[in-house]
Amino acid sequence: MTFQPEQAWRQRIAELEAEVAALRQELAQYRQEAPDVSLDADDLAARKAFVGFDEDTAAQLAALRPFMEREVDGLVEAFYVHLRRFAPTRQYLEDPQVLARLRAAQTAYLLSLTQGVYDEAYARQRLRLGQTHFRIQLTPRWFLGAYAVLFDLIVSRLQAHYAGQPERLLAAARALCKAFILDMQLAVQAYIDAYQAQLRQANAALQQHSEELERRVAKRTEEVLQSGKLAAIGELAAGIAHEINNPINGIMNYAEIIAEELPEEHKLGAYAREIVFEAQRIAEIVRELLAFARQDTQEHSPANLADILDASLTLIGRHLEKDGITIRREYSHDLPKIKCRSQLIQQVVLNLLSNAHHALNARYPTYDPNKIVRIRTRLIRKGGRPYVRLSVRDHGIGIDPANRARIFEPFFTTKRHQGGTGLGLSVSYGIIAEHQGTMSVDSVPGEYTQFDVDLPVDNGWETIEGLESDAAASGGG
Ligand code: HEM
Repeated sequence: MTFQPEQAWRQRIAELEAEVAALRQELAQYRQEAPDVSLDADDLAARKAFVGFDEDTAAQLAALRPFMEREVDGLVEAFYVHLRRFAPTRQYLEDPQVLARLRAAQTAYLLSLTQGVYDEAYARQRLRLGQTHFRIQLTPRWFLGAYAVLFDLIVSRLQAHYAGQPERLLAAARALCKAFILDMQLAVQAYIDAYQAQLRQANAALQQHSEELERRVAKRTEEVLQSGKLAAIGELAAGIAHEINNPINGIMNYAEIIAEELPEEHKLGAYAREIVFEAQRIAEIVRELLAFARQDTQEHSPANLADILDASLTLIGRHLEKDGITIRREYSHDLPKIKCRSQLIQQVVLNLLSNAHHALNARYPTYDPNKIVRIRTRLIRKGGRPYVRLSVRDHGIGIDPANRARIFEPFFTTKRHQGGTGLGLSVSYGIIAEHQGTMSVDSVPGEYTQFDVDLPVDNGWETIEGLESDAAASGGG
């Protein structure tokens, strides 16, 4: 018995794991602590002390106020002439509205340099400026370089202003240099902060993505394990079933002969009939085992899920209705056909309906308006592939969480005393896996159970000649 889906899953898991590993590596790069960026009075004082920005510096700058008021327009103009000479900075100056704001901002900035008060409000404005440049993706290379441009423009005008007074010129230039260095630090600090905030966001998004991938890998792994377990048990079951088939037929035949040979009233006759009954039960289990081991060879062909459902309901619908169960069909129209072995899919449907039947009878022994089984079909997409989803939902007793993990295991049953073999769901699981589909369950004890069967619209099986055009016409393929 070959379980091809297992290979496909392994392949998929390997891909997902590689994806997770790549993401982890990416995350590791981002996982650095953000530097402390809060700016209070002490912080600002420490920064100023380090670059030697003292009272004298402030006084020197304040003394430049009349000069700056006179020169500011020309400085701004010359600054933009420079920025226009380079394509990366020029592109920011094309929109007249932005340019107008920029001129105003730049003028205000230059005037503030000589305002005489260099407090937290002053520093905060510098931080804001850094954030704005980050937002417009202007990199440090350009905005830091621009300080050299401004410095040069100002000092060359100061040369004329302080002609013949080299000491005053030098003192003014030194003060200006300190102010610019302080500004550059703050601008870069803000830029880094904004950058790290963005990285933290990216980190959180990646983390979420990686967790989601891990969840998916865990789910797939569980499916592969389940499929591997089923494959092994399936082979074993096939072997055992063949071994048992012959002797059990012998036992059944001999017991029948004995029963026929003995007079009606003979008590051994009852025993013999009991043997026949029990042997039949064993034969039934063997038949199921063989089905589980997938010994049958029905051809596959494109089929309508709705037809399969209706055929199944024809078989056991009455049975359910007799027990007061309402069957709700919620079929999505225009579903594509699926390539399948329809008898096997029908076997799955019958099994699901029979389970729903038991669960509803166990919760509501007599009539109840809630005694409903809902059969729903729809088209979904998973990993970019279209699937037809069949959901069978009942509001019966539900499945105990401890049992839920085991219900697809062969021979696991909670209905042993009612003749359950524990093969129904594991056989169904194998059938769906062979169709490259998945089968999952969701349940809240005492409330509901829902089985979802997802069958790929195209499972790679070749379409049988003549039916292909039919499938394409219905939107499938
Ligand atoms: C000495 C370097 C620079 C300083 C002091 C400076 C100053 C400023 C200021 C104060 C603002 C307003 C910030 C706000 O409060 O939101 C601003 C915004 C801006 N800056 Fe700069 N800047 C500099 C370099 C540059 C450079 C090299 C460019 C490149 C063209 C540039 C382009 C812009 C743009 C496009 C805006 C946003 C304008 C808007 O849309 O409102 N800046 N800058």
